[in-house]
Amino acid sequence: MTGRMEGKVVLISGGASGIGAAHARVFAAEGAKVLIGDIQEAMGKEVADGIGVTNSGGQAAFATLDVTSEASWADAVRKAVSLYGKLTTLINNAGVAILGGLTTETQASWDKTIAVNQQGVWYGMRAAIPEMKKAGGGAIVNISSVYGIIGSPDMLSYHASKGAVRLMTKAAALEYATQGIRINSVHPGIIQTPIIKTTFSSSGAPAEAVLQSIYSKTPMGRLGQPEEIAKGSLFLCSDDASFVTGAELVIDGGWTAQ
Ligand SMILES: NC(=O)c1ccc[n+]([C@@H]2O[C@H](COP(=O)([O-])OP(=O)(O)OC[C@H]3O[C@@H](n4cnc5c(N)ncnc54)[C@H](O)[C@@H]3O)[C@@H](O)[C@H]2O)c1
Repeated sequence: MTGRMEGKVVLISGGASGIGAAHARVFAAEGAKVLIGDIQEAMGKEVADGIGVTNSGGQAAFATLDVTSEASWADAVRKAVSLYGKLTTLINNAGVAILGGLTTETQASWDKTIAVNQQGVWYGMRAAIPEMKKAGGGAIVNISSVYGIIGSPDMLSYHASKGAVRLMTKAAALEYATQGIRINSVHPGIIQTPIIKTTFSSSGAPAEAVLQSIYSKTPMGRLGQPEEIAKGSLFLCSDDASFVTGAELVIDGGWTAQ
């Protein structure tokens, strides 16, 4: 712990679980004041309570946030500012992953995936940036995926949404480059979180076989851990990354190097 996020106020969408919850723990441990936003209230509050106040003076609270609603984003941003006095940092992390190919994807799963993964990221940036300007600058990390860079045969809307996140990040980074707001994307490989089970169990493949196929595609031969993603974002949101914007940080055990 070195207090790398001291003085920063961080809103994390989808912070009740997996990669988002790891961001909350890692950022608070580095001195950040964290607001966890999620539709899962009980889990989100549990993560915030578990963090409490850290040795670096970090802390965490929870706000109900549905990233598909601009009104909900406005409420969450207001809550961050009323609790902590400002907003400097946003982790656009909330996401869903639903299996479906070109002909098997349903309209409902397409609409949901685009609304949460893609539109939710746009809404989040739009809601947070005015407060970042008031705070004198800020940093945003949009969580995309290796599936925002390379394809696979059975997650059409997920690829569409995560590819969009990658390029929305670069477009927004250019728009705000001279205004003190840095915007970058992070691209996880396969990370050990609940999304893995909910996504891949619907494929009907036995869990062990699915895991083996993931291991075989990952040069490091294992799943990633949520904290390994949070630590990448930590760099991008810290002042150490003061000249980094519009960049994409791949954290995938070597998958996309092949
Ligand atoms: N786990 C992986 O292998 C992996 C790989 C690449 C990218 N990602 C991305 O990382 C992010 C986090 O995924 P995770 O693995 O931690 O999954 P997860 O299912 O553990 O967490 C996702 C969180 O998003 C929340 N969420 C869903 N819809 C929401 C909405 N409308 N409003 C607010 N919150 C909502 C969920 O309640 C949940 O807490 C996602 O964007 C995902 O696409 C994950």
